Amino acid sequence: MTTFSLGDTDFLRDGQPHQVISGAIHYFRVHPDLWQDRIRKARLMGLNTIETYVAWNAHAPRRGEWDTTGWNDLGRFLDLVHAEGLDAIVRPGPYICAEWHNGGLPVWLTGSMENLRSSAPDFLVEVSAYLRRVYDIVAPRQIDRGGPVVLVQIENEYGAYGADKAYLEALVAVTRDAGITVPLTTVDQPVDQMLSDGSLPELHKTGSFGSRSAERLATLRRHQPTGPLMCSEFWDGWFDWWGGVHHTTDVTAAAADLDALLAAGASVNIYMFHGGTNFGLTNGANDKGRYLPLVTSYDYDAPLDEAGTPTEKFFAFREVIAKYAPVPEEVPAFASAAPALEVSLSPVGAWTDAAGSGAVAAQPQSFDALGHLSALVRYDVDLPDGKGGQLLIDEVRDLAWVSVDGVAVGTLSRTRHDRAIRIPAGRTLSILVEDQGRVNYDHRLGEEKGLIGAVTLDGTVVTGWRSTPLDVAAIAAELASAQPTDAAGDGPLAWTAEFTVDTATDLFLDTAPWSKGYAFVNGFFLGRYWRNGPQRTLYVPAPATRTGGNRLVVLELEQILAPVARFVEAPALGVTEE
Ligand code: GLA
Repeated sequence: MTTFSLGDTDFLRDGQPHQVISGAIHYFRVHPDLWQDRIRKARLMGLNTIETYVAWNAHAPRRGEWDTTGWNDLGRFLDLVHAEGLDAIVRPGPYICAEWHNGGLPVWLTGSMENLRSSAPDFLVEVSAYLRRVYDIVAPRQIDRGGPVVLVQIENEYGAYGADKAYLEALVAVTRDAGITVPLTTVDQPVDQMLSDGSLPELHKTGSFGSRSAERLATLRRHQPTGPLMCSEFWDGWFDWWGGVHHTTDVTAAAADLDALLAAGASVNIYMFHGGTNFGLTNGANDKGRYLPLVTSYDYDAPLDEAGTPTEKFFAFREVIAKYAPVPEEVPAFASAAPALEVSLSPVGAWTDAAGSGAVAAQPQSFDALGHLSALVRYDVDLPDGKGGQLLIDEVRDLAWVSVDGVAVGTLSRTRHDRAIRIPAGRTLSILVEDQGRVNYDHRLGEEKGLIGAVTLDGTVVTGWRSTPLDVAAIAAELASAQPTDAAGDGPLAWTAEFTVDTATDLFLDTAPWSKGYAFVNGFFLGRYWRNGPQRTLYVPAPATRTGGNRLVVLELEQILAPVARFVEAPALGVTEE
């Protein structure tokens, strides 16, 4: 039996001082057929531990559901870590931030309660049930039971959100009660207030930061006179949002910061070792006065890029780690260029005009009220007396395409704080609204999506709305085998293409000839694309492709500039800041 505990200055692995040199991989952002490859490469960089969050809403998208198969097979992920000879750190939240939609909290939960991340009884009941399910997987895989798990984290940067100690105590009680015996940690930004509010005396405090290691470790030490120092999130890159730049960090500076941490004897979890992808509609968003939805790629400028290829940072970190721990001789191969090919796209028809249920309500229904988890809801209303005027909406969450009798009028964007648009006279007003990603940080967590509040026309409230949810994945599946039409023009049109590859392979799909929408390969939902950038290519993981014929479906919302699908040799994640 191997033990893992907290010593006066170090972690003790089987009683011996042990420096944790860990890297983050989120199983929910990597195709499960590629988990083993990514974990192996972590070992080759010299890591001795893999850390992952658990995304509650991936396992339980709907109330009562609990899936642990395929992408959600956390047990298999941990077993692969173990098989590679590495330890594991599990961070089950329930809140994880992570640039993941709603910070990991299920929409059915946040839509039905006020006091999130607190000791409110209704929240604790659901959280406890969730944690017990996670611990059913984690407890038998702890190190003292022959498994890889050495640490479990309670909540996530809680000091940046609340100070409800009873909440943290309840989380600890459920965790211990479920048979978790390894040391429990918390993570907070190294700010006095956050370190005080975010933890409990019985929990081991760690920090999250990406630079000025010595200063941050000193702050941590002030709050915790003994025990191992640990940076649980050593930020080696950053995430991107639509309309921004692609973030990268200087390799030499990042390596020097890592060196400083390890030289100080601190343990580390590199965030991220391999970022992966926000496949489908899983991206989060930030809103600190301006709503910024996050892009599909979660490359993070990490040592292993989005496609699992080692970068310059991989080799720089490997060299640093070699000063403190044994590093395997073997190095992972660089990927060769992905196949470049171009095929033509054929239009297969309009895709947002599905007939609704016909149910009419006074107000537009939110995505949450409709129990709708996909990207779009279309709102239709008969214009009172057929008149136009100034349309004013309390809040648009998050992007709306406004049309009257099928003719586009314009868009309203939450990011731009748009609320009003002048519409012409006509019969039917239609507003197609996109949820661009649930906020994952701070107090907008759990907010509803759709048209929120009142909609007025020249000052009079408009009532009698039909709210029609559109499931983009289901629509794409239906249209995959549709015959080409001679449809043309702007506005929402679906397109398909056939392409052939010699063998299943990673691909980079260039979305530059298109505007905004969703792309699918053989039914696999690659994610959102948007001309707004910075991201220009979508990553197609090899297991989503197949030898021979493959089918691409593109659901375009605005305009196709050229009816082609182009696969390029390398990713293009956008311009970087100098
Ligand atoms: C914080 C959170 C993480 C992640 C990073 C930024 O540290 O704990 O989940 O959001 O910020 O990437």
